[in-house]
Amino acid sequence: MTVDLETTAGLLARLDELIAEQERVFLARQPRSRALLERARRSLAGGVTSNWQIARPQAVWISHGRGSKIVDVDGTEYVDLHGGYGAMAVGHAHPSVVAAVSERVAKGTHFAQPTEDAIVVAEELSRRFGLPQWRFANSGTEATMDAVHLMRAITGRPKIVKLEGAYHGHHDSVQVSVYPAADEIGPRSRPNSVPSSAGIPTEIVELTVITPFNDLEVLAEILEAERGQVAGMLLEPVMMNAGVILPEPGYLEGLRELTSRHGVLLAFDEVKTGLTVGPGGATARFGVRPDIVCLAKSVGGGLATAAIGGSAEVMQAIASGRYEQVGTFNGNPLAMAAARAALTEVLNDDAYARFDRLRALMVAGCQAAIAEHELPAHLVAIGAKGCVTFSDQPVRDFRDFLRIDDRWSHCHWLFQHNGGVFLPPWGKAEQWLVSAQHTDEDAERFVANFRSFAAAVRG
Ligand SMILES: Cc1ncc(COP(=O)(O)O)c(C=O)c1O
Repeated sequence: MTVDLETTAGLLARLDELIAEQERVFLARQPRSRALLERARRSLAGGVTSNWQIARPQAVWISHGRGSKIVDVDGTEYVDLHGGYGAMAVGHAHPSVVAAVSERVAKGTHFAQPTEDAIVVAEELSRRFGLPQWRFANSGTEATMDAVHLMRAITGRPKIVKLEGAYHGHHDSVQVSVYPAADEIGPRSRPNSVPSSAGIPTEIVELTVITPFNDLEVLAEILEAERGQVAGMLLEPVMMNAGVILPEPGYLEGLRELTSRHGVLLAFDEVKTGLTVGPGGATARFGVRPDIVCLAKSVGGGLATAAIGGSAEVMQAIASGRYEQVGTFNGNPLAMAAARAALTEVLNDDAYARFDRLRALMVAGCQAAIAEHELPAHLVAIGAKGCVTFSDQPVRDFRDFLRIDDRWSHCHWLFQHNGGVFLPPWGKAEQWLVSAQHTDEDAERFVANFRSFAAAVRG
């Protein structure tokens, strides 16, 4: 259904009231978090350990987690759909991961020499993603940085192509047009390259060429105009830092064909999608083979690790030393033990069947509430991931996404939180993650909170 302007203004005014009310409830539930935040502000910049933990109305400090639940320092338990920003597909303290890590920790945690688990993990990733060779790193940022370096080293070309509105970590080359404002983005046919942070040299910003998602025509024109200049294209095959935006049929196939034609390498950033949208990520799910795949988050079973996989030709550049892929903690034994347990014992066929069942429950329950209360919203979900997109129109790229009013997702987030479900903060940009330990009851609780929210907005 389409909502007219007058109704939209009325709904937004109602959201303002509800946000004020729900934030009061939220703060009253978090006195110990408040005290810790005040203390932390003296020794931690901004009072947190990453800027993404600065959330409105305040950061929530966590005590512990088990299974599908986390407990905050005030003793409140939540169904965890935050999943540590998408890293906890195994769920918390999974017995297999606890056993693997406990065994490893007692035998020493770091040597900067390879351990056998690294081979098992690489073999399993090859099997799932269909790329023969792998290396490890410690974060998604490092994985995409390696991908960009590799693409430049192999082709000898300076530029990369990146999607408008995509986040790939915080190294310079990808800190361009991550969340540009509407008045900065320029024409859709040739989007501006907008630095996303202070301190990114203009010369680097100019080497990152921006293209819209789901648009092969613009990409074809850009590759033609930049002929011989572009080393590679880096993209999330499903955009997951703009809610969830799925690739339209033929888009991934088309960009594979276009990039190959121009001698441009193709890297899929599967930091979020890998292991969550299917056992072999988006690569296996959509059947389009990139030259490079970047993994992080859920590949580590809850520990900090990342992986980069590639074709034999690409990975030869590492093996030969043409590109020095290095790092003291690469393939850290503790992280490899957790990754091995996650891949070989937890994220199995049963887990993926569970993701499908829970997703179906969450999508159907929310869609019914949307229809009943005539909200301008719809669900977009895949594998263990999904979100409510607060728009009555399909969202196919960042520019559509930018038009969504942030108040919707913030108000929904507060209703979920006060109702005992922890979604990732940062509203419309993020999405839920269910884990191998979530239950139907967890999904039903999410739907019940959504129903309360929908009724309150229309109330
Ligand atoms: C798609 C994508 N790529 C890369 C990264 C960076 O990963 P990390 O935070 O581990 O550096 C993120 C983080 O959210 C991400 O969502």
